[in-house]
Amino acid sequence: MTTNQDQLLFGATVTKVVSATAELGLADLLEDGPRSSAELAKILDADQRSLRRLLRALAGLGLTRQTDTDMFELTEAGGCLRSTTDDSIHALSVMLWDKASWLSWGELVTAIRTGVPGWLQAHGMFWIDYYTSHPAASAVFNKAMAQHSRAAAPGLVDAIRPERFDTILDVGGGDGTLIAELLTAQSTLQGIVFDLPSGLEDAATTLDARGVADRCRLEPGNFFDEVPKGADAYLLKQILHDWDDAAALQILRNCRTAMPPTASLLVLDRMLPELAGPNDVPTLLVDIHMLVVTGGRERTEAEFRSVLSQAGFTMTAVSDAIPPYDYRVIEAS
Ligand SMILES: C[S@@+](CC[C@H](N)C(=O)[O-])C[C@H]1O[C@@H](n2cnc3c(N)ncnc32)[C@H](O)[C@@H]1O
Repeated sequence: MTTNQDQLLFGATVTKVVSATAELGLADLLEDGPRSSAELAKILDADQRSLRRLLRALAGLGLTRQTDTDMFELTEAGGCLRSTTDDSIHALSVMLWDKASWLSWGELVTAIRTGVPGWLQAHGMFWIDYYTSHPAASAVFNKAMAQHSRAAAPGLVDAIRPERFDTILDVGGGDGTLIAELLTAQSTLQGIVFDLPSGLEDAATTLDARGVADRCRLEPGNFFDEVPKGADAYLLKQILHDWDDAAALQILRNCRTAMPPTASLLVLDRMLPELAGPNDVPTLLVDIHMLVVTGGRERTEAEFRSVLSQAGFTMTAVSDAIPPYDYRVIEAS
């Protein structure tokens, strides 16, 4: 990518090349040193000439290094495409641009014309119904969320200040990565992770690995039906942005019903500015992602205030943007 116009024309090619690399597991295969495309093609049962072109494109992107005509090694920058490193974006890269997602992006123009999510048009069902009925894709989705939450957790834990609470319930808490960090930071804290059974699939393993399983309960359920009682803080990370206002309102109303009057609601989402500018690009693009994939949306402070107030909450605080993803902790009671 040398010029702005290259980026405008080929940005999607880069992400798709990276995602294909992740899906093929190439970075893991290069973990122990350089390999030829012939050797890799044999392992992957792939077409050698096509694979060599992919490896060469990755060399251009700085993710592999071409050490000889047909020898490629992983660079430090390419290391995050391995599946098991702490900074791995492997599952995220697969999830964001695999075939199921890609087909949904093919419906972007229709989504803008009709307001119907691209995923629904491409697959005939909402994203979450797709995941609950495709266990392999759901496993990648859960891992991707865990990778994202792991990177976001340090800043979020500081901003949440878990020492204020006795029991935190993570609504749609997935594999428990965030609550595990909160429980680690605050040794007297109890946790509850509430999610669909498919979302909780890896949660026991995550909590066990972090040594906090004895202080955290898993509650399978559907937040459109009801949310469990029994906590003094209710966390919603990357939940409201998955849904349009009507659905977000239903989730919030179910939280309101479950929460004691003194409990706190903590919404962890990115926040759109009233007037968009170049500094807001990541949030603005995630907003389009939500339009295509889930039918949800990012929101401005006024939009959060409005949906919270319709559900019976008063917004009491908004944090600054928290690196690396510019999440806000929006508090309400
Ligand atoms: C975008 S992910 C966020 C996961 C986690 N909070 C995080 O930030 O890493 C959305 C989560 O909502 C869960 N979810 C979706 N629909 C749900 C429902 N109806 N009831 C409960 N959980 C649901 C999904 O399984 C998934 O774990």
